[in-house]
Amino acid sequence: MPKSIAVIGASHDSKKIGYEIMRNLIKGGFKGKIYPINPKADKILDKKVYKSVTEVPAAPDLAVIVIPSPFVKDVMIECGKKGVKSVAVITSGFGEIGKVKLENELKQIADKYQMSLFGPNIFGIINSPAKLNASFGLPSYFPGNIAFITQSGALGIGLMGWTSMEKVGLSSVVSLGNKADVTEKELIEYFNNDDNVDVVMIYMEGIKNPIEFLKTKIKKPVIVLKSGRSEKGSKAVASHTGSLAGADKIYSAVFDQMGIMRANSFDEAFGWAVAMSQPKPKGEETVIITNGGGIGVLATDECETHGIKLLDDKKYLEQKFRKTMPEFGSASNPIDITGQGGDVQFRNAARIAFAESRIKSVIFLYCETSVTDPMAIATAIYEEHKSAGSNKPVSVCFLGGERSKLAIKLLNENKIPASSSVPIAVSSLAAVYKWHEIKSSKKEKVSKPRLVGAGKKYVDSVKKQKKSFLLEHESRQILESAGIKFPKSVFAKSVSDAVKQAKNIYPLAMKIASPDIIHKSDVGGVKINIKNEKELRTEYREMMKRVKKNKPKAKITGVNLVQMMKGLECVVGLNEDPQFGPVVMFGLGGVYVEVLKDVSFRVVPFGKMEAEKMISDLKTSQLFEGFRGMKVKKQDIIKTLLNIQKLAGVTKEVDINPLIVNEKGAFAVDARVIL
Ligand code: ACO
Repeated sequence: MPKSIAVIGASHDSKKIGYEIMRNLIKGGFKGKIYPINPKADKILDKKVYKSVTEVPAAPDLAVIVIPSPFVKDVMIECGKKGVKSVAVITSGFGEIGKVKLENELKQIADKYQMSLFGPNIFGIINSPAKLNASFGLPSYFPGNIAFITQSGALGIGLMGWTSMEKVGLSSVVSLGNKADVTEKELIEYFNNDDNVDVVMIYMEGIKNPIEFLKTKIKKPVIVLKSGRSEKGSKAVASHTGSLAGADKIYSAVFDQMGIMRANSFDEAFGWAVAMSQPKPKGEETVIITNGGGIGVLATDECETHGIKLLDDKKYLEQKFRKTMPEFGSASNPIDITGQGGDVQFRNAARIAFAESRIKSVIFLYCETSVTDPMAIATAIYEEHKSAGSNKPVSVCFLGGERSKLAIKLLNENKIPASSSVPIAVSSLAAVYKWHEIKSSKKEKVSKPRLVGAGKKYVDSVKKQKKSFLLEHESRQILESAGIKFPKSVFAKSVSDAVKQAKNIYPLAMKIASPDIIHKSDVGGVKINIKNEKELRTEYREMMKRVKKNKPKAKITGVNLVQMMKGLECVVGLNEDPQFGPVVMFGLGGVYVEVLKDVSFRVVPFGKMEAEKMISDLKTSQLFEGFRGMKVKKQDIIKTLLNIQKLAGVTKEVDINPLIVNEKGAFAVDARVIL
């Protein structure tokens, strides 16, 4: 943290940003040296003003630059010469309005003098333990353990205000703006080693250097709120900060792959961030304690959505909790202490829930009634949790008016995640589980698999021919060389040859083989479901007649006979994402791919664990677990997903649709390769 700060552009005018930054620094209680810089010298807020950074007695650790854009470059050079370690450029008018060259020059100056550059186009930097408020954001906020990084300035300032009102505690706030130099990666890694930070929350619009971002070391929980989910949203983002927004699904996949948790809204993101201070769950079984049946049902639904396992042992729950409720209460999970349940009943139920080792986490739900006191209930929950040694994760939802609002604040202030939303209360607990799963999961060391030997030679030889499309057998050979399996297939030159070779592969599909025919179906060159020798003889002759009539000049070399496959139709693709490079896609294929759009992505390279997650991420993942007796050899899908990565970098695009999966394996039935 900086021990001395220069404010270049500190203003005498109380309405200007340069004045506000000075005021925040002083009011915030920064203990280090503050050097206001202004050509008019004099004094600002009782501090001696220097005409230039070159005049200050010792090199400041940080220079906050708040002068019009045409002059920023020169003062940055002065800072560099003086030995300033970091600069925070508040000034707007760079990359975000197309002045990319000017912005790049700032980066070059920063590199030349080995300074870290924050911004440009930021509202500043805040650090609670150092009492540093070098910003024109809010003068005060609620201190805590969350590092908040924001790409958007205005939203960041707005959210600071919101967190302060909700008693969500911040340790640091960093405005990133155009991210000419310092990006999320450096900050996440910096906060990895900051003992005052337990969790990092990021508002992000786009990633400046995606490949570098992928290498970020995640050691603490990182929660991202990424805007631009919709088509229109992503266009708005692009014009907002000049950053490129990649396809949203790819972002989600990247976050998953990196162990970053993606929230859907800012209240969810901060809800999760508060929940991260909860202890590690010692198991799955959760109880809901509620004073209302309806809210209990809502929470049960949410638990199912988020995979939270509710303790389901009526006898046990009855035995433990019956005494905490009137006769008409319900001791099955959700434990309903009824509308007349107040602080005493909540306290009793909480005490049991925290003491019982079978119960691993607790959700408290409260609907405000006039006969109960929300503040007393919040206090009971907080006190019981504390006296049990904060031994298991809790999450709380209080639904009601002003009194409940104050109770929520009390809980958040005491690091018990609380909100007025059932989905947020439940997803916050789910986030605690997710983070501990991420933390304890083994990190796979993966390097990109490569296509070598004969396979690579073959690709190179086809590439030399500079074809815009590949023939079926060429695609097949390339994919086979990468280890992708195909159904049995034979090539036959004549009808008798076909009959001889087809013996073990019925039912089969017959496809015309000709270097002059690309679209076989269009000329009648495909016949499926041939079941026996008799049908094969007839169909062979018919096909030859049809094709000769439709394409008389085509040289026909014979037919390919391909075993017909039954099973689940899937799709596997390899594509080049403009931001993250090669990505692999997997999902339900055939006609379903367009309708269901149930696909998952991973950025190359990834290992077995991620390949498994590509399957479990699908909404239809149950189908791959032996749904209704349909058996699927999952290991073969995983192999396909790992092997296709060998073609990243050597091909432009691969599309296997369908990949038929059944109990025998995963087989590419139709595939297209673009080199
Ligand atoms: N060295 C030191 N001081 C200087 C220099 C210099 N080279 N040049 C000018 N100054 C002084 C000026 O004399 C002035 O002081 P004064 O008021 O005492 O006379 C002060 O610096 C400011 O200069 P101005 O020319 O008055 O500039 P102004 O304050 O109007 O604007 C600013 C400067 C704020 C940097 C503006 O150019 C700007 O970029 N505004 C947008 C900031 C922003 O929104 N950033 C993104 C935040 S995120 C969000 O969206 C909320």
